[in-house]
Amino acid sequence: MKRESTRYSPGRVRDAIFQVLKLASGPLSVQEIEQRVALAIGPTPTSSVRSYLRLNTPDSFVRESRGFYAVRVPGHDGLQRELFTSQAWREPVQFGRATLVHADCFDWLEKREDNSLHAVVTDPPYGLHEYTPEQQAKLRSGRGGVWRIPPSFDGHVRSPLPRFTTLTSDQLDELRAFFYHWARLLQPKLVPGAQVVVASNPLLSYIVSGALADAGFERRGEVIRLTMTMRGGDRPKAAHDEFPGVSVMPRSMWEPWLVYRKPIEGRVQDNLRRWGTGGFRRPSQDKPFGDVIASSPTRKTERDLAPHPSLKPQAFLRQIVRAVLPLGTGIILDPFAGAGSTLAAAEAVGYESVGVEKDEQYFDLACKAIPKLMRLNLAADQTSL
Ligand SMILES: C[S@@+](CC[C@H](N)C(=O)[O-])C[C@H]1O[C@@H](n2cnc3c(N)ncnc32)[C@H](O)[C@@H]1O
Repeated sequence: MKRESTRYSPGRVRDAIFQVLKLASGPLSVQEIEQRVALAIGPTPTSSVRSYLRLNTPDSFVRESRGFYAVRVPGHDGLQRELFTSQAWREPVQFGRATLVHADCFDWLEKREDNSLHAVVTDPPYGLHEYTPEQQAKLRSGRGGVWRIPPSFDGHVRSPLPRFTTLTSDQLDELRAFFYHWARLLQPKLVPGAQVVVASNPLLSYIVSGALADAGFERRGEVIRLTMTMRGGDRPKAAHDEFPGVSVMPRSMWEPWLVYRKPIEGRVQDNLRRWGTGGFRRPSQDKPFGDVIASSPTRKTERDLAPHPSLKPQAFLRQIVRAVLPLGTGIILDPFAGAGSTLAAAEAVGYESVGVEKDEQYFDLACKAIPKLMRLNLAADQTSL
């Protein structure tokens, strides 16, 4: 694979160091930088990482006395602690077979044992900016912030929503780097044949797909969640009356959930025997797991139990979560756990799971929401389009 090449150039090493440090939740040690750079661009002489850091500190990087580095913030001459998430992580909390961890998933993945997870079901952040501590603070204080989620949430009203179509090419590159690094950190932690199912949207799914494929995952298709996702905004802005017959873009009625797999060892049957992974669990013996699932938008009953701006519905998640462990055994990871809806779904179908959430308030929310969501009786709520 091209990215695993041992060929390196100073430019590639430099770009990788920048990306690694920009994505970190705090300053990294030289050793951590070396490991993450090697994951990103393949084996790299440690001397070139070290000399690049040395030569570009203090111009581009800031070094702490104990040998940790961060990217320098223009106009600031020291480490800007408030740019990083709090390091005061809480203790993990257990709900039946589900474990919720308060951490940054990049750091958590790095420390996780290899070959110890059997599937991933996750709904990651797409506006990387949206989930920064600064934007979260604005959201919670009700004073502005950059949000694509509903203009009023949790009693707060926000400013108009920028659309994914307005992302600049630098922001798209940032998104690509984010998913590529994430996928590279994730891969060794999964057993061969582990399914990775990632919620996406029609405008940005090509970026995530490319990053996962570049990182060495096999594309296995997409599950289409049939649901009305985009509300309004399909007419020409400020020219509705002039062009009454125009839709600016197709009004979206579906959500792609990308399906990737860590390459299997040998044949599917070998992989199933050895690792318990490689396929999907059928809804029943005579029905295969299909790639279109009708789903209502998340219902008010659930949003009241778990008021997270991007909450996914249990009726849909339970079907996905159940399917990703073909033999019904193993551990499911949600590295961007939010209100814990994936963990609740896993507990509801009887699977072991672990979720990682870095935002303290969402972590607290998930602690309250998981026990309620997992007990939710869907009979009355479960409707199709
Ligand atoms: C789109 S939301 C997921 C919501 C989830 N589907 C639910 O139903 O509650 C993404 C979540 O990932 C969290 N997050 C963002 N970056 C993270 C990181 N590096 N590590 C762990 N969590 C992160 C955000 O705080 C946010 O709660």
